[in-house]
Amino acid sequence: MPNAPHWLDISRRHLLMAGASVASGATLAASQPLQLPQLDATAAQGRPWRLAFGSCAKQSKAQPIWQAIEAAQPHLFMFMGDNFYADAQTPELLRERYAEFMQVEALQQFRARHAHIAIWDDHDFGDDDVGGEYPHKRLSQQLFCDAWNEAAHSPRRTRDGIYQSWRLQAGGRSVQIIGLDLRFNRTALVADPQRRNGYETMMRRAALGQAEEVSGWYVPNPDPRATMLGAAQWAWLSAQLAEPADLRILLSSVQLAAEGTGWEGWANFPEDRQRLLRLLKQHRAEGLVVLSGDMHYGEFSRLDAPGLYPIWDITSSGLTEVWAVPTPNARRTQPVLAERNFGLLDIDWTAGLLRASICDERGQARRQQQISLADLKWPRD
Ligand SMILES: [Fe+2]
Repeated sequence: MPNAPHWLDISRRHLLMAGASVASGATLAASQPLQLPQLDATAAQGRPWRLAFGSCAKQSKAQPIWQAIEAAQPHLFMFMGDNFYADAQTPELLRERYAEFMQVEALQQFRARHAHIAIWDDHDFGDDDVGGEYPHKRLSQQLFCDAWNEAAHSPRRTRDGIYQSWRLQAGGRSVQIIGLDLRFNRTALVADPQRRNGYETMMRRAALGQAEEVSGWYVPNPDPRATMLGAAQWAWLSAQLAEPADLRILLSSVQLAAEGTGWEGWANFPEDRQRLLRLLKQHRAEGLVVLSGDMHYGEFSRLDAPGLYPIWDITSSGLTEVWAVPTPNARRTQPVLAERNFGLLDIDWTAGLLRASICDERGQARRQQQISLADLKWPRD
């Protein structure tokens, strides 16, 4: 990119250091080891590992929240999608929007100084709520890989989607991070036309205090072939879940556990959601927690399915965007945080705890959930 600010070069160098290459002997299906500054020292001292995440950052808005994220000193930051808003119907506009993203100074300076990984969601993939039908997805994939410093040989550049898994290892502990692509292969959503047409009336009623909650207009897709991942990504995910790990973090740009929002989420693809739960059982894959974004509020959801350990879904959204309309979610465990926010995970191996927080832009933890690592085990019966 011409006239790139000097910190982009720093970013590239830093990412090369942070995103170490695939270890010798590993296959392409294996999680990519990440060498994180300070993680070995933290592990040697028995202190918690700290990971942060966030989503939904509009490039035209000020992004002061990066100061608070920086002050939290996470070992790794995970960009959960809608990392900027392309909303582009032409290749020219898509390129233009990417160029704008690369000029967001607070965000890019944070990237230059801190190890990070990224997945995308609809807006940075292409356009509002789009999936596999987006006509410029190959270009978008290349722009994504360039912007996020993917190596020239990275499979993310050539396979059908930017899905990728990583591994953090220190002090005899191992955390697997599985980043999904919920856009490239996704079947189109099904909308309820009546809800869509009646939405403005509902919003007006809510503004007048006549409606407690307002859901969106999407309904579950009844087609058993409808998919979020596509066949190749399912096969890849199955291989990931067969790998051993003390903790698995599933990066899902949209919510997995939430139900009844009427907006985007795995609940719109019930067959695919069941398939994921079946896959966990099949591989006896333990220690999985889900991170999500997209909603423009932060919250905790918990899915309790028969014969499965509780699946926590920790949503942080947005870094700039806020949706103050009360939205239903049958799996919500405490009130949403409808303010600009980021997520923090402190993995305390000594105490056997995952402490999850949703923090405001001053860095204050405003919603918290303590999860016992022992509870993320397969039920012994
Ligand atoms: Fe989104």
